[in-house]
Amino acid sequence: MITKYCLWATSAMVLLVIQPEPSESAHILAVHPYASHSHNNLYGPIIKALTRRGHTFTVITSQPVNSPPSNYKQINTSNIFEDHHKVFNSMDKDMGVLRLFAKVMHMTDDICRKTLFHPEVQKLIHPSKSSERFDLILMTNFFGECLYGFSHVYKVPMILLSPAGPFPTTYSAIGTIVLPSAVANPVMGFDDRMTFWQRIINSLSTIGFTVFYKGFVLPNMYSIMKEAFGEDIPDIKELEKYISLAMVNHHFSLNGAHPLGPNLIEIGGIHVNPPKNLPKDLQDFMNGAGEDGVIYFSMGSILRSANFPLETRNAFIAAFSELKQRVLWKWEGENPLPGQTNNVRLEKWLPQQDLLAHPNVKIFITHGGLNSFQEAATRGVPLIGIPFFADQIGNVQRAMNLKVAVKLDCKNLTKLNILNAINEILNDPSYSINMKNIQSIIADQRDHPLDRAVYWIEYVLRNKGAKHLRPAAADLKWYQLYMVDIFFVMIVIPNLALICIGYIILKFIKKRCQSKKKTEDSSKKEQ
Ligand SMILES: *[C@@H]1O[C@H](CO)[C@@H](O)[C@H](O)[C@H]1NC(C)=O
Ligand SMILES: *[C@@H]1O[C@H](CO)[C@@H](O)[C@H](O)[C@H]1NC(C)=O
Repeated sequence: MITKYCLWATSAMVLLVIQPEPSESAHILAVHPYASHSHNNLYGPIIKALTRRGHTFTVITSQPVNSPPSNYKQINTSNIFEDHHKVFNSMDKDMGVLRLFAKVMHMTDDICRKTLFHPEVQKLIHPSKSSERFDLILMTNFFGECLYGFSHVYKVPMILLSPAGPFPTTYSAIGTIVLPSAVANPVMGFDDRMTFWQRIINSLSTIGFTVFYKGFVLPNMYSIMKEAFGEDIPDIKELEKYISLAMVNHHFSLNGAHPLGPNLIEIGGIHVNPPKNLPKDLQDFMNGAGEDGVIYFSMGSILRSANFPLETRNAFIAAFSELKQRVLWKWEGENPLPGQTNNVRLEKWLPQQDLLAHPNVKIFITHGGLNSFQEAATRGVPLIGIPFFADQIGNVQRAMNLKVAVKLDCKNLTKLNILNAINEILNDPSYSINMKNIQSIIADQRDHPLDRAVYWIEYVLRNKGAKHLRPAAADLKWYQLYMVDIFFVMIVIPNLALICIGYIILKFIKKRCQSKKKTEDSSKKEQ
């Protein structure tokens, strides 16, 4: 398995080298003011690879890099994003849909406004004659519509980058037809093969989200965009015509088979690199676990385990104290913890990808973030998922459907439940076998996701926006696309006409009968 992985990784690197040289180096504007650390796992490798190939960048980003290369200019908006980041940092277990929607509205409003009125960004919105020009825009597909105005200012194509996988609005922007009867909304936690009731709930939630987004979020974004770019900026539906491609952080090997037009490119796993050697002391800790193995525990970069309630923390410590296995816990708080046993080791930061590649790792306890799920699958490690919100719920459900994970309810983290979940995976080899199968499917790709991303971005540059990739579906109105108008003309109108004709005939017959009766009656009277 490992050799197979290495082979794939080396051939991926070879491919990167033998890709045709770009004919001209382009000047690219990248806009991702919502980037958290995990989102940057998508943007970072792409921008790095393109700068290495000689393209120059201007980047509006909440994740600025230290000491950027000379062909990389950045506008640092990290302070704008930071306040909102904290909102999601809180472990709010019972955030209702309405409160979540309100938070999303508030976040998009604030970030759009502050980003667009940032003095450096204003210079890009109102370029002077001597200002730099751009050839392409890499645009976030995470509440980024208020920023689409750049494509109109510079009259250049846009490529959407979607770090959280595709949204329903991603599909509609690029004309991919996806029906809620066959594709589960990621936050609902259903499998794509749904029962009748699940299809009802999935349809209602997908339509509900779309109506909320198009009815409330987008009009608000558009009004902010008009303030920033001027009254004559076209509406968002019109600006969507600048979109050449969408690149999404999904791959069918892990996320399932979904409709893919030529303008939807899956680049899931782009951030996963061939494993590097671990630091010596960590390597010794892993090796020292022997046959029993190691349980790796991390709740990701946003959701910090230090925010766990005390009783939850104690439940984990109590459960771990009864294990033969060693436990490596990414923990940002006090160290050591009261009651912590010798088999447990706490670290503020850990090289997760490299660690998961160690053969002694038996289980990864995770919040179910997309990047963590991809890393675990690429390394073949089964999961215990503790999802809190958003796509984590869907990722963990997906992993359970694939039988590579056990779920723990974040509201019910008791010692007994934690131990049961661990023992379930340790005692049933099918979890590990299933994940190893997925690992080999992921490894069996013609090209590395990063090569794929670079190829398609340069394809758009070479082909002047590659307008030929855009399906007609992208420019139809919803009632045209879903054939409501055709249904109306072909079914509703003829049926109405039939009913009318039937009614008139009935009336006519009735009248004839009545008048006949009348003549009969009157003739009777006369007799
Ligand atoms: C970006 O801005 C923040 C806050 O203004 C600052 O703390 C940080 O050092 C800056 N980062 C870089 C790389 O310039
Ligand atoms: C918590 O987990 C236990 C054991 O699995 C279960 O019996 C109980 O119903 C759960 N409680 C809640 C509130 O979900």
